[in-house]
Amino acid sequence: MNKVYSAAIAGLEAELVEVEADLTSGLRFFAIVGLPDKSVEESKERIAAAIKNSGLEPPQKHNKRVVINLAPADVRKEGSAYDLPIALSFLLSSEQINFDPKDKLFVGELALDGGLRKTNGVLPICLLAKEMGINNVFIPKANASEATLVKDINIFPVESLAELIGFLEKRVEIQPLVPLDAEKIFSEMLAYPVDMAYIKGQQNAKRALEIAASGSHNVLMVGPPGSGKTLLAKAIPSILPQMTWEEIMEVTKVYSVSGKLSHKKPLIVHRPFRSPHHSASEASLIGGGSAARPGEITLAHRGVLFIDEFPEIHRDVLESLRQPLEDGIVSVARAKASYVFPARFMLIAAMNPCPCGYYNDPEKQCTCTQNQINKYQRKVSGPIMDRIDLYVEVPHVKYEKLTDEKIDGSSEEIRIKVEKARKLQIERFKNENIVANSEMTIPLIKKHCKTDEAGSKLLKNAVNNLHLSARGYHRILKLARTIADLDESINIAAQHIAEALQYRPKTEI
Ligand SMILES: Nc1ncnc2c1ncn2[C@@H]1O[C@H](COP(=O)(O)OP(=O)(O)OP(=O)(O)O)[C@@H](O)[C@H]1O
Ligand SMILES: [Mg+2]
Repeated sequence: MNKVYSAAIAGLEAELVEVEADLTSGLRFFAIVGLPDKSVEESKERIAAAIKNSGLEPPQKHNKRVVINLAPADVRKEGSAYDLPIALSFLLSSEQINFDPKDKLFVGELALDGGLRKTNGVLPICLLAKEMGINNVFIPKANASEATLVKDINIFPVESLAELIGFLEKRVEIQPLVPLDAEKIFSEMLAYPVDMAYIKGQQNAKRALEIAASGSHNVLMVGPPGSGKTLLAKAIPSILPQMTWEEIMEVTKVYSVSGKLSHKKPLIVHRPFRSPHHSASEASLIGGGSAARPGEITLAHRGVLFIDEFPEIHRDVLESLRQPLEDGIVSVARAKASYVFPARFMLIAAMNPCPCGYYNDPEKQCTCTQNQINKYQRKVSGPIMDRIDLYVEVPHVKYEKLTDEKIDGSSEEIRIKVEKARKLQIERFKNENIVANSEMTIPLIKKHCKTDEAGSKLLKNAVNNLHLSARGYHRILKLARTIADLDESINIAAQHIAEALQYRPKTEI
């Protein structure tokens, strides 16, 4: 029996699927086993029409019992990417076409006219083929761009079933994709919607964001309405360091599986910036739902998750952010399986200090009762607060400053410093499988966060006088490491620790 290879997506990874067609004499009959019930009927119709419109005889017209089996049975096969391998397997077994299916893998949904439609997860599928030593992969032409990230195997972009059959029978040429040139990706520049240069004043906040971008630390910005918190957050993409090649692969894989790559944006080469509304549901933020799709925190992987009006988030949703913030991954359960998705993002949160927004404002009177203020601030719970690395006050900017023509601190100037600091981290962690200081585990903190004598003394005093928790202590060290990197200093000195301590969340906002 002929085996035609295809692949299924489980979570973010692809798994090999074998498609076999069994033709026996008997009454005309067509069944597909190994696919969920609902999709079987639909795919049967599509496959039949596509085969007919490619000038061949579909299973429904063939005077045989046709049973297609998708194995292994325990791999959950969803979507319509098996149309193509099913059609090929049948055509091969019914001897309507002839080719050697060895060393080949096929994916694609068929349109009724025999054309090949775009499908999700092509990037991880091509990576799987490479890993398994399958040298020829046939994918829908519409998915070609994402597949150019995979080198060393032949990936053929296919337009239609008829074209593919022509190629397999050596009557038609299809050129394999040319792998992408890494240099070209990195030289691609992006016009950012907001440049730091247009944000007046706020030197303290800009410095905090520079540190955050360098070491991928979490930030909470607190300030009155209209002080520029949202504006600052929107300028963050313009100062983030370039993604490494591995990061581009990881993130593009997430977007490939989520069906979020488009013709206009076939690869994710810039760090994602996701800003879900504070009313977002747990499933949309964390992931899950009936299809176990990655949520916003996974779409923000290696980039930024910006949550404005932070205390307005539903309590349960806020709590469910805690684990991913700690581990950089999230487990998403569904009926039969549970998937682990990556979720290593920088959390940028913004909030007012109280419901009216003017608590502690030097100019405007706060109209909230103490009770209202306490209740509002309590919403951002201790454990979440404990995962904020930089707490930044964003005060109102005076009119004179806003109208000042002087430009200080453009995004480009900041980005150059950030890139330098990140390069040091990539080099430092090249054997540790991480890229930024915020990802350091306790043993790595011990290894890489050496403080000089004055620094150690300051830290010791801080732990005793400020009652820093163990987590708080490690957080200060990681942050000070990033500040020292921006300073190109090998050891962490007292001034680095002192600056890190300034961004410590206050017990009272
Ligand atoms: N420092 C600044 N420099 C230049 N423009 C500013 C600055 N701060 C605020 N603005 C202007 O004020 C507008 C409101 O700012 P923004 O939306 O960022 O405030 P916010 O702090 O997020 O307020 P809210 O708490 O109401 O959400 C911006 O669109 C921008 O035009
Ligand atoms: Mg705002």
